[in-house]
Amino acid sequence: MTKILITGGAGFIGSHVVRRFVNSYPKYEIVNLDKLTYAGNLANLADIEHLPNYKFIKGDIVDAIFLENLFAEGQFDAVIHLAAESHVDRSITNPLDFVMTNVVGTVNLLNAARKHWQDDFVNKRFYHVSTDEVYGSLGEDGMFTETTPYDPRSPYSASKASSDHFVRAYHETYGLNTVISNCSNNYGSFHFPEKLIPLAINNIKSNKPIPVYGKGENVRDWLWVEDHARAIDVIFHKAAPGTTYNIGGHNEWKNIDLIQLLCKIMDEKLDRVPGTSAKLITYVTDRAGHDLRYAIDSTKLQRELGWSPSLQFEEGLEKTVTWYLHNEEWLEGITSRDYQAYYNTQYNR
Ligand code: NAD
Ligand code: DAU
Repeated sequence: MTKILITGGAGFIGSHVVRRFVNSYPKYEIVNLDKLTYAGNLANLADIEHLPNYKFIKGDIVDAIFLENLFAEGQFDAVIHLAAESHVDRSITNPLDFVMTNVVGTVNLLNAARKHWQDDFVNKRFYHVSTDEVYGSLGEDGMFTETTPYDPRSPYSASKASSDHFVRAYHETYGLNTVISNCSNNYGSFHFPEKLIPLAINNIKSNKPIPVYGKGENVRDWLWVEDHARAIDVIFHKAAPGTTYNIGGHNEWKNIDLIQLLCKIMDEKLDRVPGTSAKLITYVTDRAGHDLRYAIDSTKLQRELGWSPSLQFEEGLEKTVTWYLHNEEWLEGITSRDYQAYYNTQYNR
């Protein structure tokens, strides 16, 4: 029996990782540790919560004593660490929240793992899930590889970069069996509607303005979240200790082009006259320090571990829209809580 602690499993990507591991590995025991912040939602896991190899624990990774007790009792064989504050705009308003969870929380987990695994580092694994934003911002050309120097430019990416450095330091200094992956922008089901794609879907559905920052010319590399979960599965099982892998979709889109495509899909799904949803596009004040372009080179992952993305973006986006239109209750569960207050402050409405 392998016992894996997955942190942040009630969030967007974490819930897909938990679901994949619970369903694919019935002999693994999966423990989901999540604080259930505004972004954590147990409804994301309603389909698997009854399964015998799944357990949920509510807790905060910033609380070192709680983690110490959890590791003492838990006898974990591995950690897959996704818990984080993840939204760049919120990091601009409240940087310290990001330092606490993303940096201090990660170091607390590393300390607990180091202490409880010190007699057997080889057979344990600490997998840290990170982001391409640690590499900074690209111009028109080039791609991020695993050796691109770190150059974080937002409080969010600075906190994730810091956590990556600590994970590497624990490998080099203490011999902890670590792995890091840096992934591009994810999209898909259960995505919290503060992020561009689900926010736009929600607004189009309700005939509200679609806020596009600046001129909409920033570029992101979009990957279907289930492809990310599959990459994490492959890397978790096959990567050598101390290694890093980039994960990306080879799928760059300017924000405005993505929104135009989304509007077209929404018009079709909602039986609207073509062009109706695009009229909602509204250019708003740009994000401070807005990174121009991200693009991931995931050749290493494809070559060494045989992973590649499975879905074309148009197909994935259509699936995602369909999911949101069929899961109105899930969306309302979020937008009826403190979401509106956040939205009003962020978008000055
Ligand atoms: P999310 O915001 O949807 O979920 C984060 C989860 O962490 C939530 O369930 C939240 O309750 C939990 N959490 C937050 N603070 C916690 C704490 N102190 N203790 C315990 N749990 C806590 O985030 P996401 O988009 O699913 O991202 C997951 C991970 O993947 C993050 O580490 C993020 O940096 C990374 N990542 C995200 C993307 C993306 O496109 N969303 C891309 C690359 C990497
Ligand atoms: O690259 C990986 C990262 O992708 C992850 O590490 C982060 O956790 C995740 O949030 C995401 O960061 P971004 O800032 O790229 O995602 P977001 O959805 O917030 O924004 C995508 C792009 O859309 C970005 O250029 C900003 C723009 N945008 C965003 C919002 C919320 C808008 O134009 N309008 C908006 O209202």
